[in-house]
Amino acid sequence: MAAEIRKVGIVGLGAMGSGIAQLCVEAGIDTVGREVTAELGERSRDRIGHFLTRKVEKGTLAAGARDAAVARLTLTTELAGLADCDVVIEAIVEELAPKQELFAELETLCRPDAVLATNTSALSVTEIAATTSTPERVVGMHFFNPAPLMPLVEIVRAELSGDAAVETAYALGERLGKHPIRCHDTPGFVVNRVLIPLLNDCVRVLDEARVTVDDLDAGMKHGAGWPMGPCELLDLVGLDVHVHASEALYDKLREPRMAPPPRIVAMANAGLHGRKTGRGFYTY
Ligand code: CAA
Repeated sequence: MAAEIRKVGIVGLGAMGSGIAQLCVEAGIDTVGREVTAELGERSRDRIGHFLTRKVEKGTLAAGARDAAVARLTLTTELAGLADCDVVIEAIVEELAPKQELFAELETLCRPDAVLATNTSALSVTEIAATTSTPERVVGMHFFNPAPLMPLVEIVRAELSGDAAVETAYALGERLGKHPIRCHDTPGFVVNRVLIPLLNDCVRVLDEARVTVDDLDAGMKHGAGWPMGPCELLDLVGLDVHVHASEALYDKLREPRMAPPPRIVAMANAGLHGRKTGRGFYTY
């Protein structure tokens, strides 16, 4: 594996990919972001610039440091633009087939010593790695939403991940200022294995206890010390993302609590995805 991480590639610059790219450029690492269109790439650059500017306004970042960070991000629409990266982190749509296709392609384009990481939250890293002929360099790096603010990154060892790739990913997590933890590739890894059924329980309680959305959120904030209520959190994560992840875990584990409650399936189907669509449990 590459001795030193000089350049990181991010594939997919949605909320998670942009957040991870922001962490990389803030950590002083040259970063290449790949989106399917130049417009989507520019949108991500603007988003990163916006959050860094807020830091400047609040006095936690110098204007020069912000400009240098933004300048470290280059954008591409071609996967070939990632050829000289030491680590590539995938953050595209949360579906197995497109991720497998991407990893098979990355394997042919990237340097043989590059680590290929997936930010998947509920799919199997082992199944993603299985489409490559070098699964020893494939690992999971699972960041939490919002990536720039949440301190955790799960470093996921797939069945055939090599020690060197796992340690490179761990070292990168530390360099990005995160608190990395190591785990094996099991459904939901560590946090989502616990958090997803817990959030599903919270939604079931809404109907069972006939508590209002506001009161349930107040209950978990003031009675359990959560930083935000479960309905606020579902709106942040995205109802569509949560339902999809719940279904993926239910498929694997067959535990009833993993299955998304009908109420949030209906919300997701109706386009009430939370903050990103302007409406979820709350209106934004
Ligand atoms: N990206 C970058 N910067 C951001 C950001 C983002 N998405 N969102 C906010 N910020 C910046 C903003 O500049 C903001 O300052 P301003 O509002 O002044 O501009 C600054 O961060 C601080 O934001 P907040 O004041 O909102 O911070 P807070 O103290 O209220 O904390 C929080 C926000 C960290 C999100 C906190 O509420 C929290 O910890 N919530 C729980 C989140 C959580 O549990 N996430 C895990 C979701 S599950 C998951 O991710 C797993 C999965 O696989 C789906």
